Amino acid sequence: MLAIRVNEFGDPSVLALEEVPEPVAGPGQTLIEVDTAGVNFGDVLVREGQYFGRKALPVIPGWEVVGRARSADPEGAFAAGDRVVALLDGRGYAELVAAPTGDVVAVPDRVSDQVALAMVIQGATAWRLLEGLAPGERVLVSGAGSGVTHLLVQLARHRGAGEVTVIASSEEKARQVGELGAERVVRSDQGSELKDQLAAGLEGGKVDLVVDMVGGDTLMAMLRQLRPGGRAIIYGVAGGSPAKVSTGAMLKNGWSISGLWLGHPGSISLREALAELFELNLAGNLAPTLGPVLPLAEAAEAHRAVEARTGVGKVTLDCRPA
Ligand SMILES: NC(=O)c1ccc[n+]([C@@H]2O[C@H](COP(=O)([O-])OP(=O)(O)OC[C@H]3O[C@@H](n4cnc5c(N)ncnc54)[C@H](OP(=O)(O)O)[C@@H]3O)[C@@H](O)[C@H]2O)c1
Repeated sequence: MLAIRVNEFGDPSVLALEEVPEPVAGPGQTLIEVDTAGVNFGDVLVREGQYFGRKALPVIPGWEVVGRARSADPEGAFAAGDRVVALLDGRGYAELVAAPTGDVVAVPDRVSDQVALAMVIQGATAWRLLEGLAPGERVLVSGAGSGVTHLLVQLARHRGAGEVTVIASSEEKARQVGELGAERVVRSDQGSELKDQLAAGLEGGKVDLVVDMVGGDTLMAMLRQLRPGGRAIIYGVAGGSPAKVSTGAMLKNGWSISGLWLGHPGSISLREALAELFELNLAGNLAPTLGPVLPLAEAAEAHRAVEARTGVGKVTLDCRPA
């Protein structure tokens, strides 16, 4: 079968289309003939050799696919031949994958491949980040161009958040999240320090929940706006530098600060999350921003689109054999 393989870490040009051995389904796995694979920001880190110490080569990137199940779920969640979406432990940029059966979910006919893929990692992450949200709570989110943020803003509105504020690095990204339902947008590209921009943007009102995937100074500036007793969830370090948060500040403010990573086995009930996310999408209440669909052979172009940081939307790869 054909797959995209990384034989040395580096820029997008290291994504090579190669003939590789087909996977064999082990215990608790289902083979899926892949139609479309999702591209995620984390795939760029895998390609660069920067993803949570994953240094083994060669590596086939890709954590999510839509395709046809070759066999039925023993518990009846899907039949052989059904159109399914799956969360993988890698190796998704390929014509055939072996997926953990518990993370294989049937896709409703009216949900497109692209939408289904946007709901797997980005949607499920937004869903988990807002699990503990109480109606009326004020939320502060980083990354207006992020696919997770685009879904989280809509989901927060649906869950009755009091007010959602998003940090945006451009006018276009600010406009996008505003249209998706963010009440306030604070620009990080206006010259003055983000902490001052946030204080002015929030007009002195503190937030109940901080959601960050940038890290470093961005997270530190966001924490200044967290109320005593508030919560912060960190789910990425896209800026490249983790923040150093003082335990003294946590103690004094009574903050709960936690991390979220979908990569831990069992960290999410994917079937439960996707049932709600697909339902919301079909009801017209949750729509991911969609980007280009590129042929598998153009995975390098797909990575360039994600890395360009233009808020391109969900980028996917068509993996059907020619
Ligand atoms: N913990 C988990 O399980 C989990 C799951 C999904 C995603 N993530 C992480 O969440 C983040 C967003 O994922 P996504 O799928 O939404 O990605 P995406 O749609 O490609 O968006 C990437 C985001 O990263 C920001 N970014 C990129 N480079 C940056 C830099 N050098 N400095 C500051 N910000 C930078 C962008 O900021 P702008 O908005 O300013 O362009 C954008 O918001 C990524 O870091 C990803 O690894 C974690």
